[in-house]
Amino acid sequence: MPSPPSHDSASDSPPPNTATSRTRFDHYRELVRTKQLPKGGGPHGEGRNREEKGRVRSARQLAWAFIRLLRPFRLQVFWILASATIATLIGLLPPAGTKFIIDYGLSGRTLPEPWRSRFPQLADPHRLLLATVVAVVIVSLVKIVIYLWGRWYATKISKQIQLNVRQRVFEHAVRLPLHRVQQIRSGGVASILREDGGAVGELMFGMIFNPWRAVIQLVGSLAILAWVDWKLLTGAVILLPVVFFTHRAWISNIRPQFRVIRKQREQIDAGAAESFAGMRVVRAFSRQRRETARFVTDNNLMARQELYAWWWMRGIEMVWEALIPIASAALLFYGGWQVLAGQITVGDLMMFLVYLLMLLEPLATLVSSATQFQNSLSGLDRVLDLLDEAREMPASPNSIKVDHRAIAGAIEFDNVTFAYPGGEAPALSDVNLKVQAGQTVALVGPSGAGKTTLSNLVARFYDPTAGRVLLDGRDLRDYDVESFRAILGIVEQDVFLFDGTIAANISYSRRDATEGEIRAAAETANAAEFIDRLPDGLQTVIGERGVRLSGGQRQRLAIARAVLADPKLLILDEATSNLDTDSEQLIQQSLATLMQGRTSFVIAHRLSTIAGADLIVVVEGGRISQTGTHAELMAQGGKYRSMVEQQIHMTLGSMAPGG
Ligand SMILES: Nc1ncnc2c1ncn2[C@@H]1O[C@H](COP(=O)(O)OP(=O)(O)OP(=O)(O)O)[C@@H](O)[C@H]1O
Ligand SMILES: [Mg+2]
Repeated sequence: MPSPPSHDSASDSPPPNTATSRTRFDHYRELVRTKQLPKGGGPHGEGRNREEKGRVRSARQLAWAFIRLLRPFRLQVFWILASATIATLIGLLPPAGTKFIIDYGLSGRTLPEPWRSRFPQLADPHRLLLATVVAVVIVSLVKIVIYLWGRWYATKISKQIQLNVRQRVFEHAVRLPLHRVQQIRSGGVASILREDGGAVGELMFGMIFNPWRAVIQLVGSLAILAWVDWKLLTGAVILLPVVFFTHRAWISNIRPQFRVIRKQREQIDAGAAESFAGMRVVRAFSRQRRETARFVTDNNLMARQELYAWWWMRGIEMVWEALIPIASAALLFYGGWQVLAGQITVGDLMMFLVYLLMLLEPLATLVSSATQFQNSLSGLDRVLDLLDEAREMPASPNSIKVDHRAIAGAIEFDNVTFAYPGGEAPALSDVNLKVQAGQTVALVGPSGAGKTTLSNLVARFYDPTAGRVLLDGRDLRDYDVESFRAILGIVEQDVFLFDGTIAANISYSRRDATEGEIRAAAETANAAEFIDRLPDGLQTVIGERGVRLSGGQRQRLAIARAVLADPKLLILDEATSNLDTDSEQLIQQSLATLMQGRTSFVIAHRLSTIAGADLIVVVEGGRISQTGTHAELMAQGGKYRSMVEQQIHMTLGSMAPGG
């Protein structure tokens, strides 16, 4: 008995991602050989070092899941199966024509009774030959037409299923909790959408169309063979269990490999997308070679894994394919013996051999499509993994829709403690804060204190770990999250603009806005000034396909976006940090107008912005250390006053004449 692998053996700790693909592949092969490959899915996007959840879906569960996906297409599937049945059954007729010709046309025997009296013309062998051939041609043509129609229809449905699955994955992925989205990474999601979503559509053939045809052909030719000679049939039937059992043994090895390869592809896609998104950093630090090397190593590993899987696939196929000639030879020997003994006719033997091939052909089809099938199943497996992940704050039937007009906008933190998922120390502890509707709150404090985290909780990007955040006295968790976000406006330091026109980017918050409203918002945000200087004004295309904007210009667009949204709650996280003093002063005014009548959380460094707030909150190390107005806090002393004094000191220092 082999001793169980000791815990610190090489196979237990995978080589790091920076190791050569050879080392990593050796480790992988070891896992395959010892059957330690994860059978089920680890969560998407997580590094290999994380503990795999080890969820296992059997082929049967996957098949059921696919059938559930097919439910909307019930009628179409029925027609596909019906056409495949008819085409396959018709396809079984022509070999009978062969027997007819050999036994009655060529060997000179007379036709059996019902045929002779009904078609006396066929007594002439030439006519019989011609009639049979014409009949075979017509039957074959009909079969081809029906078969093609079914195949076309199945292709059409498989595309619809792909669409359907991709839509569901997309809808689900955009509603995952933010930290999960960051873990999966944008390129990885693209990979799941494209590769795995596509694979699910292919199951239409791998699981429905091809197997069904094979089964019909199998049953049909078996029935005919049994009718010709049941003893010959037993020989053929012995083959089936052999195929069945080798198939099962082999599948348990092959699908986990496909899963790993697909996951590897997800990671490669994510890495490549990231390299290009961060191209400025890559160039700035001359990391092009390193990035290329990483990409190549990962691809190398995947190629090795794919080639390895190829051997597994072809190995079993070879065994099955060898079975076919061996079986035919054996039956030819037995059948020829029977003919010599006068038990059956030459036509019977010919027909038998043809049907035997027709019996084995679907098996061969199943074998060769089985690998593709396993690959597609592993794609479905990964899609299901993603769909199984909990959405961000699912709507419960009791959740209340937020009514824009009825909401006043008072925010209260009631003993809130919050730790980021995966983070150990809480980013916020025991935060209590009352903000009245319409107030402007300035959040100040050192870097990493928790200011952005606090505003993230207001925006409900996360729910508190303990305690509650209340809007108008009601827990935020009681509200429907999407309708809540509709009353929210956010401007952050990193402005994300979509590829499209300026007008489209401003009206991202409100798709029904008119050109006039967009203009007015741009003017309020002091953006109209630079927009008018662009070649096409509001219709100028920005982003990947068009002009580039400066940091300050982007920020003004983001402010215009918030203006247009007309939010009840406003979050400005370093929203003016990219602006020079002149533009900031211009925007200060527009922001002041914007903040009027809205509850606003402002994170800023400039004293002028902070001092005008209704309430100043000093955050230090995840706790609120001081709250009050500028005057109160200056009188109180402490962190706030020292910060203010320091800033004044620095400003004066920089204004003092040099030397
Ligand atoms: N997504 C995240 N996952 C885990 N930890 C996070 C995450 N974002 C922030 N943190 C941690 O939470 C703490 C507070 O971060 P936060 O972004 O709120 O600081 P901040 O006050 O906004 O700082 P800054 O002025 O630099 O923007 C930090 O220690 C940070 O490491
Ligand atoms: Mg911050």
